[in-house]
Amino acid sequence: MKKDWITLDQKYVLPTYGRMSIVVKKGEGMYITDEEDHTYLDLFSGLAVNVLGHCHPLLLEELKNQSNQFGHISNFFYNKPAIELAEKLVEATFPGKIYFANSGAESTEAAIKYIHKYGQENNRQGIVVFKNSFHGRTLGALKLTRMEKVQQDFPTPGFPVHEFEKEDLQQLEEVFKKHQPAALLFEPVFGSGGLQVISVEFIEGARALCDQYNVLLCMDEIQTGMGRTGELFAYQYSNVTPDVLLFAKGVGGGLPLGGILVAEKLAHYFKEGDHGTTFAPSPIASALGKKTMEILQEGILAQSKEVGNYLKTELERLKDQYPEIIGEIRGKGLMLGAVILKNHEILKGKFIEKNILVNMTNVNILRLLPSLIIEKQHVDTFIESFEEIIKEW
Ligand SMILES: Cc1ncc(COP(=O)(O)O)c(C=O)c1O
Repeated sequence: MKKDWITLDQKYVLPTYGRMSIVVKKGEGMYITDEEDHTYLDLFSGLAVNVLGHCHPLLLEELKNQSNQFGHISNFFYNKPAIELAEKLVEATFPGKIYFANSGAESTEAAIKYIHKYGQENNRQGIVVFKNSFHGRTLGALKLTRMEKVQQDFPTPGFPVHEFEKEDLQQLEEVFKKHQPAALLFEPVFGSGGLQVISVEFIEGARALCDQYNVLLCMDEIQTGMGRTGELFAYQYSNVTPDVLLFAKGVGGGLPLGGILVAEKLAHYFKEGDHGTTFAPSPIASALGKKTMEILQEGILAQSKEVGNYLKTELERLKDQYPEIIGEIRGKGLMLGAVILKNHEILKGKFIEKNILVNMTNVNILRLLPSLIIEKQHVDTFIESFEEIIKEW
């Protein structure tokens, strides 16, 4: 007799997630097949984790190779795959040093501790963030996540947090002058908050203000990183570099891995014993992360930028055709959103009926985070189905 997985989940697992009624049997490339043998086009890739799709053959090979060498070893030993990944990340971004964590929220926690150390030595305190930002759900990260629905009334640590309106450099400078914060932290493209792209002018202006006021410029690239926006990291659209870069999601090639990269000249603020974890960096996740970066740099990143532009153009076309249903199109690369003006609550279900998996965020924003291996034919399938859904309304 077939197991009733949904009933078992309801019986044994706390209901913190709203799930789709799909029990996954197998993933392959851009597709997921469920227990009923329905195959779906996956357009959110495990919330931006599966950068190279499901079960990429080269990652499976790497998984086997590294598992045959060693799996977990702990931080008592030098970890070759992690050193190689750190080298690769630094070479592709800016000179500095990495602390590895296991998840996005843990990366934010590491950044908070790091900022605290910097603040203590420089007589500054607190972190400035955008209104409606998302930086994770553990208690420290939650203090920086400015979404009421997520923050609720959970207890959070006591360090000061100052909010300001994104893109407003004047307001930012006022906050810097008034509060002498230790750091500014923001997402270069809003992830959960609604896919708005932060302008290069703002990023460069914020860099200048941070230099002027001795504030650390920290960028949360947990969702925008690993090629998501068409560059390896979204700050690379600008002419400046951050002091602290937060990363996670796809960086472990599908396995949990995250961390912070700190600019070389600031790397001395963390010393032995200041932070740590049992698991990270997993040698296997590190090996997969390194392989993922190689594959991205060998051509997938450039291809994904092209397909991302195509997807955005097609979404804009639909928007022009159906302005009463589709509002603004937002995002960059393969991190795209469409504001849905009508029937947003049933859209996800309608796509499932068409064998397509999409994600909604911030109530009425259709969020697309497909694997970077997506091709134009997948975009065409999605756009045709979207148009059919609209016509059926
Ligand atoms: C920008 C950003 N920061 C932090 C996080 C938290 O990451 P995690 O869910 O791995 O804890 C996320 C997750 O979606 C994110 O998008």
